[in-house]
Amino acid sequence: MYYAEELVEEVREKNDIVDVISGYVKLQRKGTSYFGLCPFHNEKSPSFSVSPDKQMYYCFGCGAGGNVYTFLMEYENYSFPEAVKYLADRAGISLPEREYTEEEKKAADIRTQILELNKMAANYFYYQLRTENGRQAMDYLKGRALSDETIKGFALGFANKYSNDLYRYLKSKGISDELLRESGLMNVDEKHGMYDKFWNRVMFPIQDVNGRVIGFGGRVMGDGKPKYLNSPETRVFDKSRNLYGLHIARTSRKKYLLVCEGYMDVISMHQAGFKNAVASLGTALTTQHATLLKRYTNEVILTYDSDEAGIRAALRAIPIVKSAGLSAKVLNMRPYKDPDEFIKALGAEAFQERIDQAENSFLFEISAMEQDYNLKDPEGKTDFFRAVARKLTEFDQELERENYIQAVAEKYQTGFDSLRKLVNRTALLTNPQPRRESARPEPKKKSGGDGMKKSQRLLLTWLIENKGLYEKVKNWVSPQDFTEPLYRQVAEELFQQLEAGEVNPARIANHYEDPEQQREVASLFNTTLRVETPEEKEKALKETLYRVLTNSIEYRTSNLEPTDMAGLQQLINMKRRLQDLGKMHV
Ligand code: GTP
Ligand code: MN
Repeated sequence: MYYAEELVEEVREKNDIVDVISGYVKLQRKGTSYFGLCPFHNEKSPSFSVSPDKQMYYCFGCGAGGNVYTFLMEYENYSFPEAVKYLADRAGISLPEREYTEEEKKAADIRTQILELNKMAANYFYYQLRTENGRQAMDYLKGRALSDETIKGFALGFANKYSNDLYRYLKSKGISDELLRESGLMNVDEKHGMYDKFWNRVMFPIQDVNGRVIGFGGRVMGDGKPKYLNSPETRVFDKSRNLYGLHIARTSRKKYLLVCEGYMDVISMHQAGFKNAVASLGTALTTQHATLLKRYTNEVILTYDSDEAGIRAALRAIPIVKSAGLSAKVLNMRPYKDPDEFIKALGAEAFQERIDQAENSFLFEISAMEQDYNLKDPEGKTDFFRAVARKLTEFDQELERENYIQAVAEKYQTGFDSLRKLVNRTALLTNPQPRRESARPEPKKKSGGDGMKKSQRLLLTWLIENKGLYEKVKNWVSPQDFTEPLYRQVAEELFQQLEAGEVNPARIANHYEDPEQQREVASLFNTTLRVETPEEKEKALKETLYRVLTNSIEYRTSNLEPTDMAGLQQLINMKRRLQDLGKMHV
């Protein structure tokens, strides 16, 4: 925490969330909340809600949510201290200087300056492309079949053949060498001093989700090496957290995102109407990329090159996107190498057909395994099926597993029953495969599935929204009954607030600096259930309480030390009491 908690809270209270968000999103009052079109994902009807009571926002479509700080961190890409500073200024509160260390202040300033500098450089390159000197570059882009509109849309540019041109330009604007060094736009060596990193290249500005230029890729016009030169990572450019084209793709109104590897692939897909394409930036796909993708979609289609390297990249990406909770498919572009070539050769319609035929990622993984076995030989084939069976044991839900067994049996024309037997025997004989959903170590006993989490969230939401509910349930339920660690932490604070009669959910969100966690906290306070009549409501509440408590008992039972007799007795008492829940009056 950079500022005292009370100060952070004061700044927040003086900035009404509805006021602040109204500056970005058109909001309309509906009941006790305001609604508008979500700025974090694309939608046609408003599911983005802002609650003046809770002083929090939440999108029922994409799950974005948090308090006024979260909003600015997500929308403006501010760091937490930057968001505090912005809102303090807005409310006319002066922040004590010393709480913002010099170093932090400097870092924030430098970031802003680098972004400003990148914008100047992008404009300069853009302008150069349109001068006489830029003719060759323009011809190159046109030769690659890019339209004027596309060139403009991606703000493509040209770094001319003088290696100190940009340097001189930026110096003439009064930029310091120190800042230039931080920007990644310059090379420095003893012999030549400081000079442009990019020259005689077509320039691709790399923009973050909010469209700010954070770095560049530069391509030679022809066969020179290296083909691409990319900005190094800087204070504003983190390759593992940004995807090329996402600022456009996120507004594309498509159910899935196309993920590829190249700038040119993204650009040609967009030009052909597939504006939902993004690329990782000359790096393999990371878990941070996957988390970022998950914010905008539930499904990705991998459109990696058809060569061996592309297949390997896809195989590496699949578990990563899956563990972020995305479903994945793989697009086959053969006989062409990449989306750019495919579209040039066969056009957009054919590409759409390939999208429709994209292969389920599990079946793609199985196909890739075929290479390692000689399927013509009975022994090789048997080994292959053994390996497939081992992989099928990854699915621990029976229905899902059976569906996949069936798909594999069909694809390889083998009997469903014999394959199922093999899978089940394999599952018994081998240690369970690591679960695909999660790389983290599992607790002794999981705290219940998604349904259980929802019950816990519902209860927290109701406690905030219904005055008087706390008094009725406080003898039944305690923060310890929330078995998700984050839920429990939040419940502890909320119960304290309820006990003191000062409910303030937005304040709880202050305690989490990571926007991902703030989003999760927001979801805890915005869970809904469709109930109409008071009777239905009472029934739903009792059922929810019952589920949460039963789960809590189960969870504690399975985590109980065998020697803990007192704990055991307590659990027995809890179970007995549970039977009285039906009589509770709510
Ligand atoms: P074109 O050949 O112009 O069609 O480019 P592409 O977008 O198809 O690129 P390719 O599939 O060859 O490479 C995919 C991505 O890897 C590129 O967009 C770059 O980000 C990165 N990349 C390719 N070549 C180089 C290189 O020589 N150096 C670096 N640093 N990155 C490269
Ligand atoms: Mn290409």
